[in-house]
Amino acid sequence: MAASGTIDQRRADGTLRHLITLEGLGADEIEALLARAQHYARGLDQSAARSEPLRGVTIANLFTEPSTRTRVSFELAGRRLGADVVNIELQLSSRAKGESMLDTIYTLEALHFVVFVIREAEPGVLAQVAAHVGPKVSVLSAGEAHLSHPTQGLLDALTVRQHKGSIAAQTIAIVGDIRHSRVARSAYQAFHALGARALRLVGPAALLPAPHEFAGCERFETLEEGLEGADVVMILRIQKERFAANEIPDAQQYFARYGLTAARLSRAHPDAIVMHPQPMNRGIEIASDVADGPQSVIRQQVSNGVAVRMAVLEAVAGAAAA
Ligand code: CP
Repeated sequence: MAASGTIDQRRADGTLRHLITLEGLGADEIEALLARAQHYARGLDQSAARSEPLRGVTIANLFTEPSTRTRVSFELAGRRLGADVVNIELQLSSRAKGESMLDTIYTLEALHFVVFVIREAEPGVLAQVAAHVGPKVSVLSAGEAHLSHPTQGLLDALTVRQHKGSIAAQTIAIVGDIRHSRVARSAYQAFHALGARALRLVGPAALLPAPHEFAGCERFETLEEGLEGADVVMILRIQKERFAANEIPDAQQYFARYGLTAARLSRAHPDAIVMHPQPMNRGIEIASDVADGPQSVIRQQVSNGVAVRMAVLEAVAGAAAA
């Protein structure tokens, strides 16, 4: 599968300017973002960001693929930090008349937007945009093809930390359509950088990634084996939009072998947490009673999305606003 293109995400002074991938971020950089996100997570319902560190900053959300959680939480995060946030409805924009992404970006730069939050189905577009914007402009990935979803990786790491303390002590099983999953890639990069004890990839052979990807992970084609003693179970949906129509796995057969049921979850550690980035397909990759059960932290992942995106927006744009 294609790479996302390379771009230096840092400024000359080493601070983070863009966030297109977690690849290459050190444990200290990830820890710093998680610490700041935890600060915001603690005070979200008390308007922790009253000082509005991004007052005067204008942010554009540009999504070429559907989103509920990422788009809404980036919008809330920006507003809570005092920024002006505009959701660009691309299907109603001049993109629909053939304008290129770069010409749309140049237009928005002329209107003094300084942060572009982009979800894009085509690999490499984010790096291309980052390479063409002005020196004070930041590009943040809200999900790039199957390659990267860095703020999701950070919110997943934050959620594990809140429940388990150190990530280093954890055995983490990622289950499902890992091959097509940007969530899995970014989660792997975060957990790997933070020194997870064991990372397991679990799913049918056709949905596991190529052998050169996910270095250091164990691979399991049997769910029961992959769950044995796990501390964290991350379930992924089948990314139907990335399959040819005749290759989409049969939902009933998939649930029969890989659906997370309460009986199967009992193979994991008794205190294991269950995660899912959503959107969820209940009855296909996860049973409803597990998704809503006592071990599920799925809604907490959503809440953490706002805190993580506040931390990331502040990191890349806080200096510009000062
Ligand atoms: N987890 C996630 O990216 O959800 P959305 O597609 O709704 O943004």
